[in-house]
Amino acid sequence: MKKQDLFNEFQSIFNTAETPRTFFAPGRINLIGEHTDYNGGHVFPAAISFGTYALAHKRHDQKLRFHSLNFPQIGIIECDLSNLVFNKAHEWANFPKGMINSMRESGFKITTGMDILFYGDIPNSAGLSSSASIEMVTGALLEGLFDLTIERVKMIQLGQKVENDYIGVNSGIMDQFAIGKGKKGHAILLNCQTLAFNYAPIELADHVIIIINTNKKRTLAGSKYNERRAQCEQALANLQTILQIKSLGDLTKDQFEEHKHLISSETNQKRAKHAVYENLRTIEALQQLQQGNLEAFGQLMNESHKSLQQDYEVTGIELDTIVRAAWDQPGVVGARMTGAGFGGCAIAIVKKDKVDSFKNNVNNIYSEKIGYEASFYTATISDGARELTEGVY
Ligand code: GLA
Repeated sequence: MKKQDLFNEFQSIFNTAETPRTFFAPGRINLIGEHTDYNGGHVFPAAISFGTYALAHKRHDQKLRFHSLNFPQIGIIECDLSNLVFNKAHEWANFPKGMINSMRESGFKITTGMDILFYGDIPNSAGLSSSASIEMVTGALLEGLFDLTIERVKMIQLGQKVENDYIGVNSGIMDQFAIGKGKKGHAILLNCQTLAFNYAPIELADHVIIIINTNKKRTLAGSKYNERRAQCEQALANLQTILQIKSLGDLTKDQFEEHKHLISSETNQKRAKHAVYENLRTIEALQQLQQGNLEAFGQLMNESHKSLQQDYEVTGIELDTIVRAAWDQPGVVGARMTGAGFGGCAIAIVKKDKVDSFKNNVNNIYSEKIGYEASFYTATISDGARELTEGVY
């Protein structure tokens, strides 16, 4: 959607002649390091060019009015600054409300109401972090409108808190971090225990990253996600009876293999194995990339998917079908699911001159088996949450 169209929508929906300020937060993909963030391991995500736009201005009263062009039938959702508790009836607006609440609870002075129009071009429920994108665009707009001084990492942590304490999904810090600190052309290797990170340029020469949406909505994601997290916590507690570790991310393969018998159930053993091996794969993946060894990087992506399928059991028939189809295509270096799993998207690194045949073949195999089509997008790695000023969008 064009800037002028968004302005027009804002003015007509909120019945104002004022020109709003515009903010943007991207979505994200994760190249490798899945379900490792809440296990004290490493992740390797990147912000993408799809994201959430928020146009906003301050009001003279205490009213908050939210509208999303993605859910026009819901209309304006209204509440007051003095009552920001989670309200099921407020649907998607609980994400920005939660962020305003979280920032206020942390002492940031948000003193007046606002009108905010949201528009997102991230495919819905695709596992590309549309919810973290709404949280972070809200953080950026509060920072801008109220002249706040807030460290980016603090804003990221408040976004995660919204997800955990307000929405009730026990997610880790990866999504908000990738979206808050994204950098054009770079992925972020993040140590989720210390929050130390470094940017790694993603230069794939004659290859591109293709995002493949299974178009299977991630419906069970919340409950199954929390279950996986609890299983890993139980496994960690078992290991801590002997080992002095803070998280599964502290373990080497040898230490894990030597002590895995301490983990009380076979299922939890598999979950912990994934967390440990995936963390080590992620660190190795960055090294391979830095040495220009794309083939080895792709192999690690493939192993990551197998581990998520067999040990972590978060893939499902749609993601497995699509990833297997991708592996079989010429010009594919590696492919895996990305994000929480249970549907959503996969990514593949594909040679540029094979992209068209890749899309056709994968889509044919997929739709024949699953009964509906997949969607394909070329990933452009972009900057993190920010205000869009004149000429920048
Ligand atoms: C979701 C969560 C992240 C992370 C991934 C899996 O996207 O929000 O914190 O755990 O799943 O890697």
